[in-house]
Amino acid sequence: MPFTVAIDGPAAAGKGTISKAVARHYGFRHLDTGLLYRATGRRVLDGHDPSEAARGLTPEDLDHPGLRSAEVAEAASRVATMPQVRAALLAFQREFARLGEGAVLDGRDIGTVICPEAEVKLFVTASAEVRAARRHRELSDGTSFEAVLEDVRARDARDIDRADAPLLPATDALTIDTTDLGIEAAVTAAIHAIDARR
Ligand code: DC
Repeated sequence: MPFTVAIDGPAAAGKGTISKAVARHYGFRHLDTGLLYRATGRRVLDGHDPSEAARGLTPEDLDHPGLRSAEVAEAASRVATMPQVRAALLAFQREFARLGEGAVLDGRDIGTVICPEAEVKLFVTASAEVRAARRHRELSDGTSFEAVLEDVRARDARDIDRADAPLLPATDALTIDTTDLGIEAAVTAAIHAIDARR
């Protein structure tokens, strides 16, 4: 039976870094499910219908160099509110979790909707201010901290308030709050939780 680690949480809380480190540690495959929504959002910006954009995703779409831009993030967070888009992306994510010895999936609804049977569920979070400060440090385009914070809060609100698969911790998820926790300590906490289930 494959072993599944579900890692959910808001943007810039550190779940991507933790997911990659955990996947490397155990030799598990890793899927950043946010990329699926970003690639869909980018295709919608190119003029495609949202559900057709989600259904027609190709591996090349996931490698598109522009997926990290603010414009695509905004489009991703909009298509992520559409039930038909979420439905179109569900089977691929579940299939990914089933193949191989183990898989780490990170996103917003992995522990609640995509893999409710995951052996380990983590909810990685941090204050909006700390997450905005991390994003702001990564940007070199002169965007103000206040603008980044506003963007983080807007995306949080859209992820949390949507009717279909909103961002929330699974009841059996372990929360890792990285507001005052370094990345090494956060990865160690994740590895302890996984070791306890293996
Ligand atoms: O993690 P990210 O910033 O790359 O995600 C981009 C958008 O996709 C974000 O607004 C939330 C959405 N998303 C989602 O709704 N469900 C997921 N499993 C992953 C991402």
